[in-house]
Amino acid sequence: MHLTLPFVALLSATSALAAPFSFLSARDHTSSAYSSFAPESSIDADWRIHESCNGTQRAQLSSGISDMKKLGLNSIHYILNHPNSEFFTTYFGASADPAPVLGYFMQLVYGDKGDALLRCDNPDNNCRLPEWNGHWRGNNATAETVICDLSFFSRRPLEALCGKGFQLAQDNPSVYFGADLMHRAMHVPEFMHEKIHHYSDSYEDVLELAKTNSSAAVSNQHSLQYFALDVYSRKLTKWGCVGEVDEVDHSGHAHASTSSSSSSSATASAASSTSASAAQQSAAAATPTQAASADCHTHADGSVHCGTH
Ligand SMILES: *[C@@H]1O[C@H](CO)[C@@H](O)[C@H](O)[C@H]1NC(C)=O
Ligand SMILES: *[C@@H]1O[C@H](CO)[C@@H](O)[C@H](O)[C@H]1NC(C)=O
Ligand SMILES: *[C@@H]1O[C@H](CO)[C@@H](O)[C@H](O)[C@H]1NC(C)=O
Ligand SMILES: [Zn+2]
Repeated sequence: MHLTLPFVALLSATSALAAPFSFLSARDHTSSAYSSFAPESSIDADWRIHESCNGTQRAQLSSGISDMKKLGLNSIHYILNHPNSEFFTTYFGASADPAPVLGYFMQLVYGDKGDALLRCDNPDNNCRLPEWNGHWRGNNATAETVICDLSFFSRRPLEALCGKGFQLAQDNPSVYFGADLMHRAMHVPEFMHEKIHHYSDSYEDVLELAKTNSSAAVSNQHSLQYFALDVYSRKLTKWGCVGEVDEVDHSGHAHASTSSSSSSSATASAASSTSASAAQQSAAAATPTQAASADCHTHADGSVHCGTH
């Protein structure tokens, strides 16, 4: 049996050589290498869900994974269709190379997911910690990600993007299950080969990173996540929902500013009323234990990230 395939291939190659101008007969030959050629396609792009997830959890996770892929695909098509986009420049910088960004989103959507698993059984007992939505299992199982019960009560579908007064520049992007799973996927070594980092986390710091260091911005987790959500949101609502952007203060504190990078007149008029809550959010972010919507996970170096980063 071992010899059958090369033997057939040799036969068809020989017959092709014998009749160099007869492509039709080569094609008619059902076992010829020519007719059986199939281009490579994505074969195992599904992020598997562990048996510990029950019916409702599985349904929500499947829908979250589908949202994650929608965000990734929309980003890919957006970049390909708008090679000189101002949004790309906003998040990655004027001199940024789109190729790595496209590559990461391609890996997210089409990459082989191998043995990677999403599980719901809290094997490391980290879900007992308040505010934990899930975590990467680190050295306990590098391909596995735990999703805690809290996620199933708090995460929102992509259709709700920009709803409930959500502002990209102020609120936790991971409240959307698809964006949350994108973040978690980016930390699975099997998917992204540990190329995605947390150089800058807050929205204003991400904009600053784009201006100062494009090569870091293209592999910065929050730059990718914010970009994906922003361009997707503009399909849902014309102006998106960036909202009010805090000014970067190099002393390490964010100040609510009255200017906005968003072109929405609605957000501009809401600027003064949101200043107070923005200041409160900055205060909360400075003290992780009091963060309202903490989103904790463990990184390769053992550091635990909580809050909106
Ligand atoms: C699935 O498990 C969660 C967490 O234990 C539970 O809250 C939920 O009711 C379960 N769903 C079903 C359909 O059993
Ligand atoms: C790995 O397992 C140990 C022991 O159960 C646990 O203490 C630790 O938090 C786990 N690590 C992660 C990243 O969950
Ligand atoms: C850009 O950021 C990376 C990662 O932090 C750093 O290694 C590099 O030196 C930075 N480049 C510049 C020009 O600041
Ligand atoms: Zn992270």
